[in-house]
Amino acid sequence: TPSEHLPSLLEASNYRRALTYQVRDSLREAFGPDADGADPMVTPATRPEFGDYQCNAALALAKRLKAKPRDVAEKLKDALESRTQKWCEPLEIAGPGFINVRMTPAFVESRLNAMLSDQTGRLGVPRPARAQRVVVDFSSPNIAKEMHVGHLRSTVIGDTLARVLEFLGHGVLRLNHVGDWGTQFGMLITHLKDRHPDVLAEGEAAAQTDLGDLVEFYKTAKQRFDVEETFKARSRQEVVNLQRGEPATLQAWRTLCQLSRVEFQKIYDALGVRLEERGESFYNPLLAQVLSDLDASGLLKESEGARVVYLEGYQTREGEAQPFIVQKSDGGFLYATTDLAAARHRALEEKAERILYVTDAGQASHFDQVFQVARQASLVPPEVQLKHVPFGLVQGEDGKKFKTRAGETVRLKDLLDEAVRIARDDLLKRAEEGTQPLPEDLERSARIIGLGAVKYADLSLNRESDYKFSYKKMLSLSGNTAPYMLYAYARIQSILRKGNNGENEDRLSQGSTPPVVLAEPAEMNLARQLIKLTELLQRVEAELYPHILCEYMYDLCQKFNQFYEACQVNNAPTPDLVRSRRALCVLTAQVLRLCLDLLGIEVLERM
Ligand code: ARG
Repeated sequence: TPSEHLPSLLEASNYRRALTYQVRDSLREAFGPDADGADPMVTPATRPEFGDYQCNAALALAKRLKAKPRDVAEKLKDALESRTQKWCEPLEIAGPGFINVRMTPAFVESRLNAMLSDQTGRLGVPRPARAQRVVVDFSSPNIAKEMHVGHLRSTVIGDTLARVLEFLGHGVLRLNHVGDWGTQFGMLITHLKDRHPDVLAEGEAAAQTDLGDLVEFYKTAKQRFDVEETFKARSRQEVVNLQRGEPATLQAWRTLCQLSRVEFQKIYDALGVRLEERGESFYNPLLAQVLSDLDASGLLKESEGARVVYLEGYQTREGEAQPFIVQKSDGGFLYATTDLAAARHRALEEKAERILYVTDAGQASHFDQVFQVARQASLVPPEVQLKHVPFGLVQGEDGKKFKTRAGETVRLKDLLDEAVRIARDDLLKRAEEGTQPLPEDLERSARIIGLGAVKYADLSLNRESDYKFSYKKMLSLSGNTAPYMLYAYARIQSILRKGNNGENEDRLSQGSTPPVVLAEPAEMNLARQLIKLTELLQRVEAELYPHILCEYMYDLCQKFNQFYEACQVNNAPTPDLVRSRRALCVLTAQVLRLCLDLLGIEVLERM
């Protein structure tokens, strides 16, 4: 049973998980088959006074056994205590039957020192027993269309999830599934040929040429398509040419893609996001195989000339089965067909074991259907996880659609520039008022704060809720914001600079005696938070919610503040205590820096 491996379980530094295993064993021991499948229900304690964790298993089990929750809790507690006594205080039953669990000070101290003495720079976070191959499909804007705030959310959330998985030790393939194929290219190519033959002649070198605004270009092409009959006919012909791979048309298509690519790359560079472009067109040669696989599995049906799949749970309002179209009656394929081919390719060719799709919640039913079809037709092996990672809308401060004052869509470049501008102005203002010295590198500081604020504001909320975009809020120095986090980090660095005697303190626990001794309650509270780093990161790995990490950091900063208020650091009464408390500062800063890095935010040593 897992609890026989208690030392290695605790060594793996996810104490919540260790406790979960112990509860599972205790349930089995105390209740036998009656407890089969019972959920151990170990959660973080709701209040710090209650301890570190609580186990709520007794309540549900009591219902099942038709017994008194308190009695069930007593019995569970007795079985559990023999297992937890090596690392936890005597257990306590509270309320109707919760079991409160608090790690002993000695255990917290030893784990903290283990974290400090980790030579690998991983702060005690273990590598996975088996590294997974993960595809993260994120950002994925559409060629010749604007990259909007929704794509920004996808970019920021996807990048963070990829960073966390990479840090933990998984193999991550970051894929940009750009919309680079479809009938809209007919009108774009025709318009390009008519109006910008010069650009066309330059081909892919056209990156340097200014087409004006690509979004404007798209709009004009669309207008012409709607009113000019010949334009429309020529556009249709270009779609056919494109599908046939006619060289001049392909050339025009490549040019358009390249122009967009250059625009997108500016945003990625500004944000420091790395992505591999593998657009929809990549999967064109693989679509036929999808169709024949669907056919072979007997799923393919006909509906009004189109080839479709019928899925359970999808009905029209009239209650008729709603077909999932994979090939239109004119032979054309769809967004969904490409996604089927992509899922298959990622699972079978890329050998991905986990495939994540970071898009707005509006695409939930699209992915649900794609996944169902992929499973039913065995395009993807059953052990491969397919997961849509949805997020809510970005709204203006008024809760309406996010627009400029003039009512236009906000261009991403402008949005990021504005955040940096406000950050710069704030820094200048504070220098003028004398509340903060002007940073040596104003531009770099403004950039880190401004872009960090945009990212953090997005990541700190539950991604599934809609979020109100507010420069004022995200750039505020107080509250759960990037400037607050950056400031907290810089403040610790300044404390460490002050008492430093030239020693490299990065690994304060390397000597023979562990330096950290947790005497004060505030030290203990800070330490309890620090040693939960692994648990937090593994939760993000499993649940894919970046805000969990932000909450952890915010809590950590508050616990650090309480510690710093209660305890002298550089002026502590004994040299050992100075050393010990400086080690706590070092570790707090390292954890904060790691977390910020995982959110794609750089740190400032001074602020
Ligand atoms: N291009 C799509 C959009 O802008 C997002 C693509 C997401 N990825 C996918 N495999 N469908 O909404």
